[in-house]
Amino acid sequence: MEISVSVLDMDFGHLEDSIKLLETADIDSLHMDIMDGRFVDNISFGPAIVRTIAQITKLPIYSHLMISRPEKYVKNFFESGSRGVTVHLETINEDNEYILETDNMGLSLNPDIELAGLDPYLNKVSEVLIMSVYAGFGGQKFIQSSLDRIRELRKKRERLGLNYKISVDGGINPEIVPLCVESGADEIIAGSYVSASRDPVKAVSALREAAQV
Ligand code: DX5
Ligand code: ZN
Repeated sequence: MEISVSVLDMDFGHLEDSIKLLETADIDSLHMDIMDGRFVDNISFGPAIVRTIAQITKLPIYSHLMISRPEKYVKNFFESGSRGVTVHLETINEDNEYILETDNMGLSLNPDIELAGLDPYLNKVSEVLIMSVYAGFGGQKFIQSSLDRIRELRKKRERLGLNYKISVDGGINPEIVPLCVESGADEIIAGSYVSASRDPVKAVSALREAAQV
């Protein structure tokens, strides 16, 4: 199981310290939640901050774009040091679907969006990121029906012989992790459980332990 940690709810006054601390934890990557105040009702940060973070860490960085018109910015996020960029299915249409032809692209979708909408793109993307909360804010409660969606994507991957990574993002804590493992997720993305913890390294260990089911 891969573990990625979102920087969204970290103290931006001490971002470098927080990231250096996380480097000592057993995580696989950092997750950048990019919000534009349009696709979601929240604004976070843009490529300049991603670049700054990329310069202070060797951890791989993945950017999750919760923004309208992703085609305008995908390149920017790769150039800023993202190893992968995930966009939302809700923002993809026939005029911008070409962006999914780029290597290391992922697709995400909100809990109320039908999985079938992913079908035309599953052979192009390297990751499907299941939102287990509604995109926009950290600290929300995990939506249990996300587990069925993970199972379905896993089955579909086997049936079609594809190899996209299945990630789950939102409301992750050690009680939820075993359920994600059993459903077939390859990666969990944790935000507030780690960043709001007094001991983020210990919080990551608790997630790691919970994944050994
Ligand atoms: C929600 C973001 C998530 C979120 C994770 O819009 O995509 O990455 O910040 O944070 P928690 O773990 O607090 O739900
Ligand atoms: Zn995210």
